[in-house]
Amino acid sequence: MSEQRIGGTTGSAQIPNRTTHITGWGHEVPAATLTNADLEKIVETSDEWITTRTGIRERRIASKGETTASMGALAAARALAVAGIKADDVDLIVVATLTPDHLMPSTAVLIKGALGSTRAAAFDLSAACSGFAYAYAVAHGFLTAGLGQRALVIGAETLSRAVDWSDRSTCVLFGDGAGAIVLEALDLEAGQGAASRPGTLSFELSADPSGAYALWIPGGVGEGADPLIKMDGAKTYVYATRTMAAVATAAIERAGLTPAQVDLVIPHQANIRIIEHVSKAISFPMEKIFVNLDKYGNTSAASIPIALSEAVAAGRLKPGDVFCTVAFGGGYTSGAFVTRWGADPAHGARAASVDPASIRVVRPEGGAKADEPPAVLQVFLGRRHR
Ligand code: ACO
Repeated sequence: MSEQRIGGTTGSAQIPNRTTHITGWGHEVPAATLTNADLEKIVETSDEWITTRTGIRERRIASKGETTASMGALAAARALAVAGIKADDVDLIVVATLTPDHLMPSTAVLIKGALGSTRAAAFDLSAACSGFAYAYAVAHGFLTAGLGQRALVIGAETLSRAVDWSDRSTCVLFGDGAGAIVLEALDLEAGQGAASRPGTLSFELSADPSGAYALWIPGGVGEGADPLIKMDGAKTYVYATRTMAAVATAAIERAGLTPAQVDLVIPHQANIRIIEHVSKAISFPMEKIFVNLDKYGNTSAASIPIALSEAVAAGRLKPGDVFCTVAFGGGYTSGAFVTRWGADPAHGARAASVDPASIRVVRPEGGAKADEPPAVLQVFLGRRHR
């Protein structure tokens, strides 16, 4: 009987002249929508206030049975299909999330099970809304160190279950969803400079403990620990506007490029005013910045991979284009990476071959509490977007 491999860690030496590139992408958002008009029935707010202060018009809300793991698994299955590979071709699964189904096991392990992977190493990563940039950097390091050939990098959130639906200053901002990419090792030819080098070009990651309790979820392991998001909006807004521009600029410089050489910026989708500030600060026109927060709100670690997946589908990235993602979030953390796109966008059509019914997260007998949407939202969940 052959011994089952339980990890993807097959080497240890740093491979010279190796980078990574994205070969698969996909996303999943719940069908149920919650509009600003719906929110007017839950808290004292208005469509006008939310739209002018944030740019958000509606967000998706997970229904019973939809969780961070189930949405992440479906997004990941689509990314595998787009890359044209099987679950067992993947050596590592990293899930960035601040709303895991459980504290233990990791959401990544549940996703591994749903995909039918038998060999990938799998773990979750906590860096709030910057989580996808952090997870991408970790996977890049893993692959360029020679520990594997392919990684699934997933950002997935069920923020509707971490929001205080009586707090109008936070509940209008967040939504649910997941996005995923397949990241593969790529060996470079000698002498390829920044202006032509394919694949991942640079990173910039930071963490600032001065914001630790300005954006947080107290819950942990203590009895009665509060599981709901608390936020000092004004302080977070100031941090976001300051750090997003700085981190994006640093990543672009580190890639050996100027902003003019970047074709698309995919920012964390928190607030249109923050994105407009970044646009001005780095002199990058809004036409070259991808925005979908009007449809989904802030989906934290899922926002950049969902936006990336939609940007490719919308024809905003073609082979040879350079894009920069930039995020900020709880911690405070921030992160950016710069990549030259190389995949054929037409491969995106392969995602349709994934049958959602075939991707199932195994649950304990009798279900799990993580499956339940908040009672206050039940009345809105019957309405389907598609
Ligand atoms: N509807 C109506 N009024 C509201 C609402 C609402 N939903 N929320 C707050 N208000 C009121 C406030 O009570 C306040 O009233 P007051 O003046 O009588 O006290 C007034 O609106 C103004 O509030 P401000 O906080 O000054 O509004 P601001 O223009 O700063 O916008 C916002 C608030 C949108 C939250 C902004 O501060 C922001 O975007 N901050 C960043 C938040 C963010 O992006 N967080 C996610 C981080 S990512 C992560 O890791 C999860």
